[in-house]
Amino acid sequence: MKTLITQYIEEIRNARIEDFKDKAAEVEQFRVRFLGRKGVMNELFEQFKALPNEQKKEMGIALNELKNAAMAKVEEFKNFVEEKMDTDGCHDLTMPADFAQRGSRHVLSVTMNEIAEIFARIGFTIEEGPEIEDDYHVFTALNFALDHPARDMQDTFFIEKEPNVNKPTDVLLRTHTSGVQVRVMERQKPPIRVIMPGRVFRNEAISARAHCIFHQVEGLYVDKKVTFADLKQTLLYFAKEMFGPDTQIRLRPSYFPFTEPSAEMDISCNICGGKGCNICKGTGWLEILGCGMVDPNVLDACGIDSKEYTGFAFGMGVERMAMLKYQIRDLRLYFENDLRFLHQFDNII
Ligand code: DAH
Repeated sequence: MKTLITQYIEEIRNARIEDFKDKAAEVEQFRVRFLGRKGVMNELFEQFKALPNEQKKEMGIALNELKNAAMAKVEEFKNFVEEKMDTDGCHDLTMPADFAQRGSRHVLSVTMNEIAEIFARIGFTIEEGPEIEDDYHVFTALNFALDHPARDMQDTFFIEKEPNVNKPTDVLLRTHTSGVQVRVMERQKPPIRVIMPGRVFRNEAISARAHCIFHQVEGLYVDKKVTFADLKQTLLYFAKEMFGPDTQIRLRPSYFPFTEPSAEMDISCNICGGKGCNICKGTGWLEILGCGMVDPNVLDACGIDSKEYTGFAFGMGVERMAMLKYQIRDLRLYFENDLRFLHQFDNII
């Protein structure tokens, strides 16, 4: 019995409030274990009563010591709980801070915001248009010929006006953000300086390089005497801001129904610096956007006098921008919500 008492005293002296997690509850458990009705103290006291008289003195002293130790410890713990804990008894103010998991922006939102900010610095404002559009704004007003292949069901998702009528209507999911140009020009008079970010849809099989949903940022500048030189300088500024001050641009002649002349713009490869690598396929150049001078037919269709005004337009894919900037190899990663992918962009804002 003596050794048992000594062990208990030892245990009590060594007990530390820091080891308790749910402090208030565990202090109570501690008290009950030693001083409760069926606790250690009472149990030992029962045994004490049965002892021969000659042992009682020594054991009585030991038991007293144990009781005092337990009482002192419970007192100490209770004081701690009262002093250090919040008034509702639930919060231990001595606990180390719990770092809440922070969410982060999706890399496409980050990229889209960055593009918008770069253009905002030179006076472009933001406009948005509907994702469900009509043929007129997406194709006709943009000078697409009636038999242009982009109007084909293979490329465009058409929306049926009436259920069960299985023929194309003129309501569709926009295939590019260029249609927003039309909506802006219909309601604003020049000077117009806007960018138009948004989601677009194309009937494509999903692969590492293609997706049926992606994002574009469209740009439009219409005023008196806007020239191709303005277009070139604006895009050079953009390329340097987006991909670094050493970035160079190259404009290649191209064709779009809504611009004349049209061009595709390449930037010097930001991976190899233009020397040639597997990302730029050895050419030193990466294609990043389409652009051109707004076709006079488009200005006229939108009620802007093409004899008085000229303009330039451009359109770029946000997924592609982010791929080049952050070296992302597979388009599907953007939409899979795999946290291992998303967390890589936690620190870019
Ligand atoms: N709409 C074109 C596309 O989806 C991109 C584009 C090219 C937009 C030239 C423009 C432009 O504004 O001028 O591929």
